[in-house]
Amino acid sequence: MKGVILAGGKGTRLYPLTKITNKHLLPIYDKPMIYYPIQALVDAGIRDILIVTGGGYAGDFLQLLGNGRQFGLTSLNYTYQEGEGGIADALSLAEHFADGQKICVILGDNIIEKDIAGAVSDFRKQESGARILLKEVHDPERFGVAEILKGNVVNIEEKPKQPKSNYAVTGIYMYDATVFDKVKTLEPSSRGELEITDVNNAYIRERSLAFSFLEGWWTDAGTFDSLLRASNLVSQSRQKAE
Ligand code: G1P
Repeated sequence: MKGVILAGGKGTRLYPLTKITNKHLLPIYDKPMIYYPIQALVDAGIRDILIVTGGGYAGDFLQLLGNGRQFGLTSLNYTYQEGEGGIADALSLAEHFADGQKICVILGDNIIEKDIAGAVSDFRKQESGARILLKEVHDPERFGVAEILKGNVVNIEEKPKQPKSNYAVTGIYMYDATVFDKVKTLEPSSRGELEITDVNNAYIRERSLAFSFLEGWWTDAGTFDSLLRASNLVSQSRQKAE
């Protein structure tokens, strides 16, 4: 399985922090944000990784990460998203890299405590379709929210005002090669972006979306509060481990 990290976007919710750098290069405790999703993929046994970035500071990723030697990798792949087409648009740039294989996609601002090796191994065994990772949260209206009926995810709503559950869809998604055809059928949402939630709902319509629950804490880091929380959570985990 190949890995794709989506690290584009303007990071407008973090202005002025992101005026002169990419959000994914900001610090989370003692490391740049992008280190965490790379480590998450490496810990799940994924060695072939593509970073999709964009904006004016894309070159800084190359300078920071090089060929990924600090993660035990011999090479890293990079590509560039023009404009602000959203997460699913960024994902479409990975089609050539994926080359027909399954992929594990992770949003560059998602930070996790434990590893995702179990879910990745389950997806390796899954013949086709997709697998998402859910996490129970107190503020589901900030996320994509899964409606679960009789053990199946029957619908996902993007940032609903009245969430149907407390299960957030985390930014870790596993897809078979049909994902790129699904992205091609999408229309921009009201925020003018191609939404990853619409991709997942396309798999639900095919009855081929599986899910796992994410163990340990999880946070995004795209707002001031979540950026701070991410640093605090990493620092606390580090202290516990010492
Ligand atoms: C995105 C997705 C959302 C998901 C979240 C996880 O939201 O659209 O479904 O729950 O990532 O971090 P965004 O942070 O782009 O608003």
